[in-house]
Amino acid sequence: MAFASCAGCVLVVSVIEQLAQVHNSTAQAAMERLCSYLPEKLSLKTTCYLVIHIFGSDIIKLLNADVNADVVCHTLAFCKQKTGQPLCHLYALPKAPWKYALKKARHIIRNSQNLKYPRSYSDVCSLPFLTKICQEIKSAIKNSVPFKDADADKYSVFPTLRGYHWRGRDCNDQDKMVYPGRRPVNWDAHQDSNCNGIWGVDPKDGIPYEKKFCEGSQPRGVILLGDSAGAHFHIAPEWMTAAQMSLRSFLSLPTALSDELNWPHLSGATGFLDSTTRIKEGSIYLRLRKRNRCNHRDYQNISKNGASSQNLEKFIESLSRNQLLDQPAIVIYAMVGNDVCNEHTDPVPKMTTPEQLYSKVTQTLKHLNSHLPNGSHVVFYGLADGTFLWDHLHDRYHPLGQLNKDVTYAQLYSFLSCLQVNPCQGWMSANETLRALTSERAAQLSGTLKKIASLEKFTNFNLFYMDFTLQEIVEEWQRRGGQPWELIEPVDGFHPNEVALLLLADQFWKKIQHQGPEVLGKENPFNLQIEQVFGDQGGH
Ligand SMILES: *[C@@H]1O[C@H](CO)[C@@H](O)[C@H](O)[C@H]1NC(C)=O
Ligand SMILES: *[C@@H]1O[C@H](CO)[C@@H](O)[C@H](O)[C@H]1NC(C)=O
Ligand SMILES: *[C@@H]1O[C@H](CO)[C@@H](O)[C@H](O)[C@H]1NC(C)=O
Ligand SMILES: *[C@@H]1O[C@H](CO)[C@@H](O)[C@H](O)[C@H]1NC(C)=O
Repeated sequence: MAFASCAGCVLVVSVIEQLAQVHNSTAQAAMERLCSYLPEKLSLKTTCYLVIHIFGSDIIKLLNADVNADVVCHTLAFCKQKTGQPLCHLYALPKAPWKYALKKARHIIRNSQNLKYPRSYSDVCSLPFLTKICQEIKSAIKNSVPFKDADADKYSVFPTLRGYHWRGRDCNDQDKMVYPGRRPVNWDAHQDSNCNGIWGVDPKDGIPYEKKFCEGSQPRGVILLGDSAGAHFHIAPEWMTAAQMSLRSFLSLPTALSDELNWPHLSGATGFLDSTTRIKEGSIYLRLRKRNRCNHRDYQNISKNGASSQNLEKFIESLSRNQLLDQPAIVIYAMVGNDVCNEHTDPVPKMTTPEQLYSKVTQTLKHLNSHLPNGSHVVFYGLADGTFLWDHLHDRYHPLGQLNKDVTYAQLYSFLSCLQVNPCQGWMSANETLRALTSERAAQLSGTLKKIASLEKFTNFNLFYMDFTLQEIVEEWQRRGGQPWELIEPVDGFHPNEVALLLLADQFWKKIQHQGPEVLGKENPFNLQIEQVFGDQGGH
């Protein structure tokens, strides 16, 4: 976790420095201001004050002497230059030679009473009052959080920790045979066995509503097998933009940490909340539900940060579908980047090869064929072409660099590479040859998926392939008066943001209507009546 301590330190010190600048206050006051903004939940506020208590006096001395965040964090030993390794820095190097700047900074805190303060992230986290928050942060940034719901009962009444933000809310947590997506038992005359909010008997004619409104309507759910883009990985820029920082800025932080910094409830595939953006298009799930209200709550977001064709087998078991009891599903396979994106200094040898892809994807399809009810559909998304990132971002300012125009995305990418945590060394790189190589491999892998889709046949589902065409999204966004860079997550400079995900969902919908309308099922003529009798059908 060396990277987390260095990147985290530079981030926090930058925010303190900029808060002081914005409010024309001392570093001390800026720190207290920052802590005062943080919520009590997850002990965030308490933790903040304790961190000030430990490191505050040194940070104040250094900032008062105009030492920049990189130098502060090297002085406090959160960042370290290992022998033979390059020096990692986010900001431009100080004018004085680095060694001299560091020596001077160390001199400033030479009388520090706190010489014994923790020297590494793990030392910091071993302090009793920080253990809990460290655990949350660790699980949020680590790419390999195990699924917490691997048992049979995968639906939940809780939103986070992979609860109903990730798949349809359970409507009876006591009964394991009640869950979204199942075929109704006795037409749900007595209870809502599939949680779609339609149950009971019409007193006028004694016919169960589920039979009346849903029989023959070909209900189906949507399941996303995705990566962090699918889960909508998002770090809010408000958490680090000093100029606009307030109490409100951090309201969403505790929930986000518990969802591994993913926001599936706002995602393009399975999002169920109204968009927080000016985009009006809904997620694929919301469209399926609008098409047939019997599909209410039937969504699963089986996505994971860092997921790729090669590690999907580790979590595909958390997909929950009973071949005999449940409705068919539309499974969207969207591993759009991690087969070519990795953090290695020389990323090419670590990229998935077409042969490796072929072998794992065939296994995945076998698994799906033995778990999906007959009549399901599987749609492969090809890989994205990430040259988009460098082309549109490299000379723009990162949220941390907007105040003083001193951190561009090119600098951010190079800082992350130096710390060996650049999530996509191949595309988030100044090396044009490397970016082109990465795109070439991505295109090969997409070709392999396309080939599999045209050659392989399965008994329980039809297989489709669809290109992941960012370019079309960009054009659509430009038609609406937007700029290409507005489609990328501002903090990480890597993931598609909420707008992009919703535009992608729109594109998906239009293409499927054209390529295979049977995937989406029929429009249910009873939708209006369902709404009249059952209202909002009970939330998600
Ligand atoms: C900032 O604060 C200092 C000391 O409190 C004051 O002298 C200075 O005029 C202030 N600057 C601005 C721009 O408000
Ligand atoms: C689903 O998961 C993906 C990640 O795979 C995420 O981006 C998206 O926001 C999630 N959507 C919903 C609605 O849960
Ligand atoms: C699956 O359904 C199709 C029709 O949708 C049918 O022709 C086929 O026989 C079914 N397969 C199995 C294994 O039940
Ligand atoms: C750019 O990337 C290519 C491919 O990985 C590599 O061979 C080359 O050495 C890199 N160039 C620089 C200047 O790092």
